[in-house]
Amino acid sequence: MCGIMGYIGGKNAAENVLEGLKRLEYRGYDSAGIAVLDNKGTISVVKRQGRVIKLEPLIKNLQGGAAIGHTRWATHGRPCDGNAHPHSAGRITIVHNGIIENYAELKKQFTDEDETFFSETDSEVVAKLINKNYNGNLLCALYKTVCVLKGSYALMAICEGVDAIAVAKCKSSVILGFGSGENYCASDEPALAGKCSEICSLEDYDLALITRKSIQIFDGNLNPVSRTKRPNTAVSASLDLNGYPHYMLKELHEVPASIKNTVSAFPEVCGSYLKAVAGADRIILLGCGTAYHAALIGKRYFECFARIPAEAETSGEFRYKNPVITKNTAVLAISQSGETADTVEAARLASSLGAKVVAVTNAPYSRLTRISDVSVPVEAGSEICVAATKSYTGQVAALYLCALAFANGGISEKELSELEKIPKLCKTALNDINVDSLAQMCAQSHGVYFIGKDLDYAVALEGSLKLKEVSYVPSEGYPAGELKHGTLALIDGNTVSVALMFDEKLSEKCSNAVEQVLSRGGKAAVITDSETIANKFRNRCSVIIMPNAGKYLSPLVSAVAVQAIAYKCAVFLGRDPDKPRNLAKSVTVE
Ligand code: F6R
Repeated sequence: MCGIMGYIGGKNAAENVLEGLKRLEYRGYDSAGIAVLDNKGTISVVKRQGRVIKLEPLIKNLQGGAAIGHTRWATHGRPCDGNAHPHSAGRITIVHNGIIENYAELKKQFTDEDETFFSETDSEVVAKLINKNYNGNLLCALYKTVCVLKGSYALMAICEGVDAIAVAKCKSSVILGFGSGENYCASDEPALAGKCSEICSLEDYDLALITRKSIQIFDGNLNPVSRTKRPNTAVSASLDLNGYPHYMLKELHEVPASIKNTVSAFPEVCGSYLKAVAGADRIILLGCGTAYHAALIGKRYFECFARIPAEAETSGEFRYKNPVITKNTAVLAISQSGETADTVEAARLASSLGAKVVAVTNAPYSRLTRISDVSVPVEAGSEICVAATKSYTGQVAALYLCALAFANGGISEKELSELEKIPKLCKTALNDINVDSLAQMCAQSHGVYFIGKDLDYAVALEGSLKLKEVSYVPSEGYPAGELKHGTLALIDGNTVSVALMFDEKLSEKCSNAVEQVLSRGGKAAVITDSETIANKFRNRCSVIIMPNAGKYLSPLVSAVAVQAIAYKCAVFLGRDPDKPRNLAKSVTVE
């Protein structure tokens, strides 16, 4: 993870990079730093633990036309000023996104020679290596260095007295921006929004030398290469809260638009999607965290609509288990960012084993999109809150369409119009439901158990993840029937069990679990679209009634309830739901 950016040109480089870093903070916000190369060739570094905004007063006196910057999500070394990037050694200063897996052995070579390290990071050794390899040519020094690195890296390096930025990439993304008399590099497109008209993505093992006037790109053997340029369509996410106190709440209210836009976009890609998955006899859905929870729902859609074997797996497990893949396997890789390292590598592995890979993503130019056979868009728009809300419902809508289209060889007007009713139901739910007392109950509890059966169970897992992520209240998601096989031992007056009941046929069974919780003195809540169920539990526990969307589309509505509970609970506890501790929005490392 970590966001990095570089600028070289006639403008104030530090201000330019600071602006870019602010837009990359979703990649990490443990610390931030900027190094500026001034017109005399001297490098100055400022860095601080905490958010990018802390750099604002520190760069005031930093003049210079070249700069590199970093916003960190700590992997090696705790968040503190000393571990913040940039890191320097001799004439060289670098920023790094990724993980240098062999850093310990590389570092030993220097410590054996009594070299001092000023940080606990894996990155500082890269600066030492480039400095050691430097012989008057920055790019060659970087090249020699990356030849001995194992792991993942997006690296930017500057050198005292050299008016250039050298860049290298392996597994972590690097985007280059072509300007007039100025050029850019960044880990991700939002940093470059509105800054230049054309951009390109580097391939793995590429290096680049960026000056004010030119960008030269080289492959892993240092041969000059060109990479396809594309118009810079990156838009900077609107930072306007639109009157909402938090992005999480704003984005929750954008769930209806996310579903609507995802549904509208599907017909255009339906043909190419069907072509890619034609003849598949097995479906594997991959994702991490919330995207994995969407995968669980997608699996049920494929099984129910197409009666085809479907599996959902976390990308991080899939990529290390020697998976069984044939050329008739279709893999749907789900990712909001399209940059999640585990999902990108899992998709790459599946593709190399002969599977057709479909990216289901919110990011059309992401790494995931580039390695996939076809991309099904999730039109959630930019999601600033670290916790996924509208991207999850967008993913579920996209997977519903993928499964239906696969089952029926296309999507009918009737099916589309069924889905088109859902945004209105979500809007009604967002305006009408009151989750305050349940959220308060969760905030005061020792633990919250979300339970449900089948699709409700998948949403229960998401509810649990969302709650712990933004409120830090311990929580787990369980299939309702599993409660009595162990977790019931934890139930007492300090716990809350939240049962999701959106499937009439299964509600009877889930009701039993709620009864078991209540009879053991546990607190309980029921979220349902059925008046009958609601009446059964009213006056006995907290009940939230949601609009009825039908069995298969109910996750789009029930998700709104669990996301709202998590949000309110975080607010009651005084947490920042938009930037929970220890997390980042885009997880580009293992
Ligand atoms: C939770 C959350 C994460 C992401 C996960 C995958 O609210 O946002 O669990 O879902 O890190 O991210 P993407 O979808 O970008 O691959």
